[in-house]
Amino acid sequence: MNARGKSEKASPRLWIALDVPDEEAAEYWMRTFPQHRHYKIGMELFYQIGPQRMRAWIEEKELDIFLDLKLHDIPRTVAHAIARLDKLGVRLTTIHLAGGVEMCEAAKEASSTMDIVGVSVLTSLSEEDLARIGINDPLPEHIRRLVALAQQAELQGVVVSGQELQEVTAIWPGARFVVPGIRRQQEPSQDQKRVITASQAMLWGATDLVIGRTLLHARNPRGVYQEFQRLLPEGEILS
Ligand code: C5P
Repeated sequence: MNARGKSEKASPRLWIALDVPDEEAAEYWMRTFPQHRHYKIGMELFYQIGPQRMRAWIEEKELDIFLDLKLHDIPRTVAHAIARLDKLGVRLTTIHLAGGVEMCEAAKEASSTMDIVGVSVLTSLSEEDLARIGINDPLPEHIRRLVALAQQAELQGVVVSGQELQEVTAIWPGARFVVPGIRRQQEPSQDQKRVITASQAMLWGATDLVIGRTLLHARNPRGVYQEFQRLLPEGEILS
């Protein structure tokens, strides 16, 4: 612990989720947090701006991009898609573990520079939602099975909700644990069903936090950003 009672453990990376419709809106947020370097781009923005604009941001603004497209297709198609993304300078990307071990292995094989993490179960799904698509195992068991598959394929880690974090970090020490569904105390969870606060996620070993609406929909985004910054060990820059 340091003087402010915070853990000396490596600080998690904080990815601001640019869930916005276009380039103009994305650049507005980059200007709002000028020192921030880590952004997550999802389907909404990527399908609008395309790979060239994203690559230009990486090169001109020196951004680290987490491209969250959650690929899920036959192994060959996913491998070829990963090979294309690998050339764009993306740092981190996602595939769905439900695609199976062969798909995960093919993705891993196709990437030379990017880290790949496997999405276990979307944070918007509950055990009841899974039962409705025919997955009747308890949620923790289903997640354990998917995490084992990610390990077998030698991915760099997994995307899990805060609820599974403690258990999963114990099973796979040293992996990347990307946690979306971050909410501030007493904040509504919106469409997310399995949410957690940033400080709890950090305590339980998250290596990467995805900060979306809790920041971009806040009344005072700069104030909320500073709130997150204060959670980090002294001297760390939230970037
Ligand atoms: O705004 P909110 O904090 O709910 O945003 C969560 C972000 O994390 C979204 O960009 C969403 O696509 C992403 N995500 C998620 N659940 C996963 C993986 C990614 O909510 N399992």
